[in-house]
Amino acid sequence: MSLRTKVCVLGSTGTIGTYTLDLVRSFPEKFQVVSLAAGKNLTKLRDQIIEFRPTHISLQNAEDAYQIQQEFPNISVGHGLEGVKQCVDTSGVEVVVVGIVGFAGLEPALHAIRAGKKVGLANKEALVTAGSLLQEEIKKSSACVIPVDSEHNALFQLLAGIPHQDVETLVLTASGGPFLKKPDLDLSTVTPEMATAHPNWKMGPKISVDSATLLNKGLELIEAHFLFGFAENQIEVWIHPQSIVHGAIWLKDHTSLAQLSVPDMRSAIGYALAYPERLIHPIKKLSFSEMARLEFFEPDVNRFPCLKLARKALQMGQSHVIALNAANEVAVEAFLNKEIRFTQIPQLIESTLAAFSGQSIKALGDVFSADEQTRSLTRKILNTKFSH
Ligand SMILES: NC(=O)c1ccc[n+]([C@@H]2O[C@H](COP(=O)([O-])OP(=O)(O)OC[C@H]3O[C@@H](n4cnc5c(N)ncnc54)[C@H](OP(=O)(O)O)[C@@H]3O)[C@@H](O)[C@H]2O)c1
Repeated sequence: MSLRTKVCVLGSTGTIGTYTLDLVRSFPEKFQVVSLAAGKNLTKLRDQIIEFRPTHISLQNAEDAYQIQQEFPNISVGHGLEGVKQCVDTSGVEVVVVGIVGFAGLEPALHAIRAGKKVGLANKEALVTAGSLLQEEIKKSSACVIPVDSEHNALFQLLAGIPHQDVETLVLTASGGPFLKKPDLDLSTVTPEMATAHPNWKMGPKISVDSATLLNKGLELIEAHFLFGFAENQIEVWIHPQSIVHGAIWLKDHTSLAQLSVPDMRSAIGYALAYPERLIHPIKKLSFSEMARLEFFEPDVNRFPCLKLARKALQMGQSHVIALNAANEVAVEAFLNKEIRFTQIPQLIESTLAAFSGQSIKALGDVFSADEQTRSLTRKILNTKFSH
């Protein structure tokens, strides 16, 4: 009988998905892929099917699923949200890595939690938009959620065994993105190519832009609030260009604990896959010479106002956080399509937050309606005030 952990990878063709499969490849005695869900990248998925031989796969749309089913008649192929859920429900799945990007990751994450799986949660938008509801579901199920975002993974490790009341603040570090050391650059001239060239991390286009605007850190602040139950003013953000300290906590006795490693997402993903065990050498060891010059700065919220907007949205409540996320997804897509300038991303988010009256969020349906409402509000503002 195989003792390997059976793995389901949602978003297998993306950056997180690719790193996850890289770990499965490096630890074949420990992990076995049983299901994969991708979006539209058929070429990459074909290679993954041939190498990892999953029993179920899913694609975003029906035509692509039909095409792949013809090519691989011996595996079951689904599509859309149902297909993703079937991946989670595939016989034997023990751990689900949620690497689908954006709001589209919410329902898959929720399904994996309800199914009681061990969930390696990379998707941050799920916790941002439905944090309290997801926490309620986690309490009701036997699921164990391990954050894969490197900062939250660090905090998860640091907080283990520390009583909540002994912690004064959480510290999230941020690389500062590609424009940190270019103070003279006119940010309104930034192109999608410039914004997606991240100095330390290899990431998908959406999170790369989020990282350049610092909205990524804003989403992470909200994610940390819901994951660990600390107030907005107990979560500090420090720019740390080397991306070696991933997170830290300040305790009430004014001592601090920090988690350090080379910047490699396989550290956090490997931690989630193997939890509660630890993998042997999934990443390169950090040397003390690499730690000789660690820098920390306060973020410049005037040049990068998105972090300020995220704090403001969190203070205003859950529906404004949903609005922040939806406005950002619309704005980033418009920027990547060259419809708006880089500096218009925060402007569009700010205008959406100002125009949104808010609503009460009690159930998942409320999350979807707030998301839908603010997406159309943002598009309307974009078309009337921002298009050039
Ligand atoms: N990359 C990182 O270092 C990093 C770090 C921390 C957290 N995260 C978070 O992890 C998530 C993924 O980030 P990423 O950088 O890996 O993004 P990415 O490279 O853009 O990958 C996204 C993945 O999601 C798939 N996908 C998109 N929409 C889908 C849908 N409706 N149904 C099924 N699959 C869908 C894509 O498929 P196709 O490509 O086939 O279309 C792709 O496999 C994000 O929420 C991000 O914030 C990423």
